[in-house]
Amino acid sequence: MTKRVAILISGGGSNMLALLRDMAAGDHPARAVLVASNDPAAAGLARAAAMGVAVAAVDHRPFGKDRAAFERALLEPLLAAAPDILCLAGFMRVLTPGFVDRFAGRMLNIHPSLLPKYPGLHTHQRALEAGDAEAGCTVHEVTPVLDDGTILGQARVPVLPGDTAESLAARVLQQEHRLYPAVLRRFAAGDRTPLFL
Ligand code: GAR
Repeated sequence: MTKRVAILISGGGSNMLALLRDMAAGDHPARAVLVASNDPAAAGLARAAAMGVAVAAVDHRPFGKDRAAFERALLEPLLAAAPDILCLAGFMRVLTPGFVDRFAGRMLNIHPSLLPKYPGLHTHQRALEAGDAEAGCTVHEVTPVLDDGTILGQARVPVLPGDTAESLAARVLQQEHRLYPAVLRRFAAGDRTPLFL
């Protein structure tokens, strides 16, 4: 049975597009059933809709600090889509343990660092300030601990002389677009052995 995949985004959704394109390419163990965003203005929503994928927006702002209430609202379209796998792709809200537990073992995230280095924000700036020779990205299972969970894949890039956070982010993002589709393909087929590109 083809696995049903929902994707959560907050912005442009370039990783989401990479996932959608790979699933649409055929011979894939999963298909996209929903793209949802906490930002109704997220550019990725129109991109997903243009690819014929159902979209939903649940603005987090009216809920203020009440994360659980926001998540209850987000769960409505999500549960209606009945995903087997939930992919976070540039989704910039921290999820509560209650939400994460619902999708335990079937929620993935892509993070722009070589975890366990640099969980959280400003990963590229932190790698530059540390003088790292390499940077990269990680796809991991989501647990209630931020940017923790079993590593399912990593891709590395060199840090080059003169790099800024922006130039490094662009180099890493190219690898994100290779890594995430490759990991999702394996994961949807039941293969959780880590992939290193
Ligand atoms: C990506 O670099 C992703 O790794 C990062 O946000 C960007 C989203 O780009 N995610 C995080 O920082 C999660 N904490 P996209 O919207 O073009 O995929």
